[in-house]
Amino acid sequence: MLIIDNLTKRFNGNTAIDVLSFQIASGELFALLGPNGAGKTTTINCLLGFLKPDSGRALIDGLDVAIEPLETKRRLAYIPEQVNLYGHFSGVENLAYFAELGGHRYSDSELHAFLDDAGLQCEAHDRRVSGYSKGMRQKVGIAIALAKKAKALLLDEPTSGLDPSASHEFSRLLGQLRSRGVAILMATHDLFRAKEDATRVGIMRRGQLVRELTAAEISHADLEKLYLETMRA
Ligand SMILES: Nc1ncnc2c1ncn2[C@@H]1O[C@H](COP(=O)(O)OP(=O)(O)OP(=O)(O)O)[C@@H](O)[C@H]1O
Ligand SMILES: [Mg+2]
Repeated sequence: MLIIDNLTKRFNGNTAIDVLSFQIASGELFALLGPNGAGKTTTINCLLGFLKPDSGRALIDGLDVAIEPLETKRRLAYIPEQVNLYGHFSGVENLAYFAELGGHRYSDSELHAFLDDAGLQCEAHDRRVSGYSKGMRQKVGIAIALAKKAKALLLDEPTSGLDPSASHEFSRLLGQLRSRGVAILMATHDLFRAKEDATRVGIMRRGQLVRELTAAEISHADLEKLYLETMRA
């Protein structure tokens, strides 16, 4: 569903992504780990079409992001660290707006049902988003992914700053999306959540994927050990 194919991206002669390749199938969650500046966000920005690669391709559902920017965006949902919503509008209004951008129009009761599914408490649905906590905004982000019927979800450090219960709840929602066949790419510094939520874990360093492993095959302690070893190498 998501394919990064020999992707290279340079900024002013500095290589941020260095001939990177990986694939994420439907229903898979690939957690991308790596130190600050490793190239995780740059990879996500290439999938979003925000950045144009110098060479190589990013494909979503078989479509090249550089050639079909609108069609590929339709298939995607994106949750950055701070979900950007319109503060003056309510959760329902934001959801209606973003769903419509993705080509979907819903009745009020359908919109409320998406917010329910995403775990946003009822009393908040019609409140202005400017009064929402970070976790509540994330839930609207999930509801948008559900309403857009996104085939792929891109997450950039989604759980940083969430309390442990909110982070656990967020993981449960990701599990639901996976079971609906959504392909998920999650850039994170949270080794614990990466091990818990991912099917596969990749460790990036200087624009390259230096390790790739199956989450089920490694313990939390071993993942941390491996990560630290990779950084020292
Ligand atoms: N718009 C830009 N202009 C110039 N350089 C950039 C730009 N975006 C990213 N870079 C550079 O590309 C490299 C990769 O950055 P990126 O943001 O992808 O890292 P990251 O893995 O997401 O790091 P973090 O964990 O800190 O979020 C860094 O050296 C960064 O300085
Ligand atoms: Mg980043």
